[in-house]
Amino acid sequence: MNILAIESSCDETAAAVVADGQHALSSVVASQIEAHKVYGGVVPEIASRMHVEAVSAVAAQALEQAGQTIESIDVVAVTHAPGLVGALLTGVNFAKGLAFAAQKPLVAVHHLRGHIAANYLTHKELAPPFLCLVVSGGHTHIVEVPDYTVFRVVGRTRDDAAGEALDKTARVLGLPYPGGVHLDKLAQGGDPRAFQFPRPKVEGAPYDFSFSGLKTAALNQLQKLRLTSVEGAAAKDFAASFQFAVADYLCERFLRAARDFGARRLALAGGVSANSMLRHEIAQRCAAAGVQLVLPAPAWCGDNAAMIGAQAFYEFLAGHVAGTRLNACPSMSIE
Ligand code: KG4
Ligand code: ZN
Repeated sequence: MNILAIESSCDETAAAVVADGQHALSSVVASQIEAHKVYGGVVPEIASRMHVEAVSAVAAQALEQAGQTIESIDVVAVTHAPGLVGALLTGVNFAKGLAFAAQKPLVAVHHLRGHIAANYLTHKELAPPFLCLVVSGGHTHIVEVPDYTVFRVVGRTRDDAAGEALDKTARVLGLPYPGGVHLDKLAQGGDPRAFQFPRPKVEGAPYDFSFSGLKTAALNQLQKLRLTSVEGAAAKDFAASFQFAVADYLCERFLRAARDFGARRLALAGGVSANSMLRHEIAQRCAAAGVQLVLPAPAWCGDNAAMIGAQAFYEFLAGHVAGTRLNACPSMSIE
């Protein structure tokens, strides 16, 4: 079954053709990073306008690269939640029009479900149940995945997402937007124990996170150090230490949940799962605990449409087909 998937929830206009939920026949991502960089973050109005300009050409390119036409596509899929409402609406309206005109079923996909499904593209043998740590720019969740379309959130951040904390800290260090990947590069060769950061506890919620406290501690330390330049060893050490604190905090709670829930297989998902320190730490700790770990290939960690096509396959098999009344939802639980 060939699925043409569209993703436009934030600052990437993406389209892909995915066969049987596992094989990405094509994946096109038009990034808007350059347009938002000067503002230090995503400007929603600019994002919507750029999606409108790009979506048609990006979808055509995805079909062409896959050697397909709209006639050979079985299902049209689209991210409908969560994200920037104007950005989501562009993809939803495009997909609705295309599905209606071509007389194809339309499947709506939750963005975070898509991030989790990136693991099916990478590991063809992977099947639920597993426990997944979803870490993106807007979300930090520990999610039980008992089946392809069944999700239960067992832990979440109470304030900022992990990606947000990394991006804000990177910004204060003078790194360009989006900071996470630049912080990761700066941290290479730095000392992860040079600076100490707290691991905030959330009372009565052992699997929940508070990244706002961690971020504020980092910003306060930076101010004291008057460290606002990425030059020199101190900045390298600071980047490595902060990244280590984030990775350690995530791993500690994720593995605690795994132990308490008796999970034997763990997965990562979302943009922050590309982080080298997080990948290294989780791999070491899973090996020590004798728990199986799957990681999405770096190409599928950030926003893309192939992951939406992968999840859409299972949504379609479960009978989750959308109608022409489909709307975009800026916030919606993964459950
Ligand atoms: O999943 P994603 O692409 O978009 C959302 O759904 O939010 O995640 C974006 C987040 C940003 O915060 C970005 O800085 C972060 O993922 N990120 C990284 C790395 N690559 C992307 N954070 C740390 N290390 C990286 N290598
Ligand atoms: Zn995302």
